[in-house]
Amino acid sequence: MTVKERYFISQKDCHKREEIIMCGIVGYNGKNSVTDLLLDSLELLEYRGYDSAGLATMNANTGKVKLRKCAGRVKDLRKICAKDKKISTCGIGHTRWATHGGVSDLNAHPHRVGDVLLVHNGIVENYEELKDHFMLHKDLKSQTDTEVVAAVLNRFYQGDPHEAIRKTVKYLKGTFALVIMFTDQPDVIYAIRNVSPIVAAYNDNGTMLASDVVALGATADKYMVVPEYVIMELHKDEIKLFDLNDKPVEADMIDIDWDTTRGGKGKYPFYMEKEIMEQPDALRATMQSRVVNGKIDLSADGVPDEILKDCERVCVVACGTAMHAGLVAKALVQSKLGMHMNVEYASEFMYSDPVIDEKTLVLAISQSGETIDTLEALKYARKKGAKSVAVINVKGSSIARESDYVMYTVAGPEIAVASTKAYTTQLMALFLLVGRMAKVRGIFDDATEKAYLDSLTKAPDKMQEVLDQKHDIHKIAREMLDAKDAFMIGRGLDYSILLEGALKLKEISYIHTEAYASGELKHGTIALITENTPVVATVTQSKLKEKELSNIREVQSRGASVVVFVKEDFDLADAEYADVFELPAMEDEFMVFPASAALQLLAYYVSMDKGLDVDKPRNLAKVVTVE
Ligand code: AGP
Repeated sequence: MTVKERYFISQKDCHKREEIIMCGIVGYNGKNSVTDLLLDSLELLEYRGYDSAGLATMNANTGKVKLRKCAGRVKDLRKICAKDKKISTCGIGHTRWATHGGVSDLNAHPHRVGDVLLVHNGIVENYEELKDHFMLHKDLKSQTDTEVVAAVLNRFYQGDPHEAIRKTVKYLKGTFALVIMFTDQPDVIYAIRNVSPIVAAYNDNGTMLASDVVALGATADKYMVVPEYVIMELHKDEIKLFDLNDKPVEADMIDIDWDTTRGGKGKYPFYMEKEIMEQPDALRATMQSRVVNGKIDLSADGVPDEILKDCERVCVVACGTAMHAGLVAKALVQSKLGMHMNVEYASEFMYSDPVIDEKTLVLAISQSGETIDTLEALKYARKKGAKSVAVINVKGSSIARESDYVMYTVAGPEIAVASTKAYTTQLMALFLLVGRMAKVRGIFDDATEKAYLDSLTKAPDKMQEVLDQKHDIHKIAREMLDAKDAFMIGRGLDYSILLEGALKLKEISYIHTEAYASGELKHGTIALITENTPVVATVTQSKLKEKELSNIREVQSRGASVVVFVKEDFDLADAEYADVFELPAMEDEFMVFPASAALQLLAYYVSMDKGLDVDKPRNLAKVVTVE
């Protein structure tokens, strides 16, 4: 079977004192008309940023340049470009995201200074110094660091692009992916990077580069990750790479499986729904290569049994949804292995003076593999001697490269900002890892391993059962559209499940939602429960059921309107609920799979019915590479 490995090669984004930017870049040089091609690719990169967009095209014969850019989305840029009937076959484009300040036509890329046209991802930390050092103030129109780089390049440019690039990058502090056109070199696009990614591909019609392989479209069946500090030349019919001494360099080509990217949203109005629906297949694919002859086998991942057997403590570093997957793993590790496990927000990890040594196994969990907090936490743990396994969706990403071992989830590209299939495939990978740990530590015998795997194998089908009832969850969602605040309550694993459910609802519906350990409510938060406050409860754990039901009654008696997602074979007694959704039954610890699908759908429908942009919620980007 085809293993759908992840292709997102994400980037360090840009941040400056007044703005934090995450961006996508593209470039094309070939036989085809470039404008629509660049616009289509930029749309695929909008998950990285969508506050402004721009492109510069160059006529290969005349060298005439057209620069179009605007604050707004790629669709706004498309309108501007629609007026232009001239055909160019060489161009660069950019889509940008600023969290505060700096959203303007002028600050949009590309930037032009003299002979230089430039798009950029990354952070040039010393741009103010460079302005002074090269006395550039008069050359600059925008507030961006990018324009400073363009101005420096232009200063150094005397007709030799390599020399200008070499001299410029020597001055740059920070991370960058620079894609450059020189107006007197109409046939070539130049690029160079440090940390921020650039991938490239070619076929018979031309050559193309982008920040992420998803934007290469159907260009090719293989792509390369451009090595750092290598000058890339994109010609119409070939890609050339040179080191900083001008010696030719080769880059490995990586296979592309385009199955999932070619389909776009398919029959769904949003990527999020498509990705929710893809979960059963993604779970099966993540499991498939790791179960050999009915046993968990991580040898294809290269994860040695010794590190699973010899570690004395386990620690997860992750952010957001990935961290919530870690919480589920913690429950498993503690119950199955009897080992203590820490799950830390990666952003807090270093400041908590974590107890880490060579007997610690650190699990770094990340969809993108580029989250800077997770990357830094992983580096910190490794410096202290910890062994590491990363659970990652993006092949070749920074965290994957930094970790001792990697288990790739096989979710396929996740485009929606809200993570869904990445989360559940992370769970699958973690269940397999814990299962293997239990085996090599002598806790599972063959029979218990078999029973564990039998349950895990059912997870995709149980999830499917929930997905098949999506219309029932849609009805429940309709009752929540006017809510300003909501609570999600449960204990133990239910609480972990709800933390993720609440994050989903918050990020895409903008309803302030708190997941709360239901036993803790009475210590303060219950004061916020008033008449008709929407409360979502999951009741999926046998040993917690009675206590959870009693906590539900507590909020009901304060007037809350409670929706319960309950394991189907649990009896809810006689109480009245605003709604009840029965989750297909599994062994308790596996209930996270069907329950998560239900909560994802709930958030999805609330967001959709509120008329929001489900895939691109405000203020958020898919890849968060600022600390
Ligand atoms: C998920 O819905 C979120 N958008 C976010 O919490 C995300 O999980 C977090 O930023 C971590 O990203 P990563 O998995 O790519 O490291």
